[in-house]
Amino acid sequence: MTTMSTFPICRNHSTLQSSSTNLNLRRSFTTDTHHHHHHQPPQLLFFSRTRPTTACQGVEVKAAPNVSVSGKRTKEVIEDEGRFLVGTYARAPVVLVRGEGCKVYDVEGNEYLDLTAGIAVNALGHGDADWLKAVVDQAGTLTHVSNVFHTLPQVELAKHLVASSFADRVFFANSGTEANEAAIKFSRKYQKHTCTNNGKVPATEFIAFSNCFHGRTLGALALTSKVQYRAPFEPVMPGVTFLEYGNAQAAVELIQQGKIAAVFVEPIQGEGGIYSATKEFLQSLRSACNDAGALLVFDEIQCGLGRTGFLWAHEAYGVSPDIMTLAKPLAGGLPIGAVLVTEKVASAINYGDHGSTFAGTPLVCNAALAVLNKISKSDFLSAVAKKGLYFKDLLKQKLGGNHHVNEIRGFGLIIGIDLDVPASPLLDACRNSGLLVLTAGKGNVVRIVPPLIITEQEIERAVDILSQTLHVLDENNRK
Ligand SMILES: Cc1ncc(COP(=O)(O)O)c(C=O)c1O
Repeated sequence: MTTMSTFPICRNHSTLQSSSTNLNLRRSFTTDTHHHHHHQPPQLLFFSRTRPTTACQGVEVKAAPNVSVSGKRTKEVIEDEGRFLVGTYARAPVVLVRGEGCKVYDVEGNEYLDLTAGIAVNALGHGDADWLKAVVDQAGTLTHVSNVFHTLPQVELAKHLVASSFADRVFFANSGTEANEAAIKFSRKYQKHTCTNNGKVPATEFIAFSNCFHGRTLGALALTSKVQYRAPFEPVMPGVTFLEYGNAQAAVELIQQGKIAAVFVEPIQGEGGIYSATKEFLQSLRSACNDAGALLVFDEIQCGLGRTGFLWAHEAYGVSPDIMTLAKPLAGGLPIGAVLVTEKVASAINYGDHGSTFAGTPLVCNAALAVLNKISKSDFLSAVAKKGLYFKDLLKQKLGGNHHVNEIRGFGLIIGIDLDVPASPLLDACRNSGLLVLTAGKGNVVRIVPPLIITEQEIERAVDILSQTLHVLDENNRK
């Protein structure tokens, strides 16, 4: 039996009506409800289940499921994925089809409070009306033309980033790892460039730190500390030394030897387990880099853009880098990366040194302008700081006394709950109670990186679910 289901790509009709474009925003998908065959792409199947004809309103919400793979549709999609996708991801057994604010909904109609925000991406939550308008308007005007031509949103976004940071210029990429690849190349090129003036041998090496994460492509991977990410793909880029995060003395000594092109550091480590740098550590790196002519690169891909309650995490430390890499939340869910540099770095880069077909495309940059306009407002940032304090206090109150909880750390809305056991049973129990969280570190840290628009009520609900499910850590240990 074949059914037609029509759904708008936007949940907010008023936004669409106010949009200046004249797009037909309704898409029809023909889906086979009962006899889908294996070659049909799974995303088309999502729309074939019984659902209201609009994804915008009136969706019936069910309590979160109580078994690990609930429902026939979920099971089918997961089975299809097992056949057709390269198995790079150990995914949670939910199939998400819709999001609104801090909530997401699975294919069976269950609602979840989303404290993952697409791994610290959806800073404005799901389907922010201003973001949506920026995307829809720009998609109907000009989506992509390549970097062979000048375009308006790209230069506007660069202006806004420069005006609100230490940087003089911006290079756009499409992801975090690509932003770091560009930073690696710019660092090498900068060192070559300075040596053509002074006749010295250019510094080509890098320092990165324990528990760091800089990406999965071969350059950024070489800078990523986890051995199991690198080992299967060696040889990666040579010349990287890993030092202990926070060990200023070791870093200063190595930088002084003059072979270091750049030091890559996250002011707050995300994936590594929510560890914050100290002011002294970053200051020591800054002054050693200044003395030796090495560049200081802050990877703010996860901690930047408002997550800490500061627009840039490094503002909390009063230390500025030569290069800062950004990605995740910048375009509100569309792929983007950005490398912010000082004039000194930019002056070493010439035509043809680096580039990308997609990067800085009008669609993505217009979306990013909408995000940056909201996030960079001081009320927005102070609300993040306030909610972060409230969240951490509540967690300490309700979870702090549990014997599995070693520490609750982080600031703003990047919070880690460090456990003495693996966090995954807790993640599963939370998900079954309608709460999505991530892990970090060695799998023993619950990572909380919600949309920055989360409300106090949502924070309270999240802490309730966490505290009510914490007992599963005991049950699991008794096995
Ligand atoms: C600090 C940091 N750097 C780089 C990356 C890589 O970003 P992407 O996954 O967009 O390549 C991440 C992603 O988790 C990150 O957290």
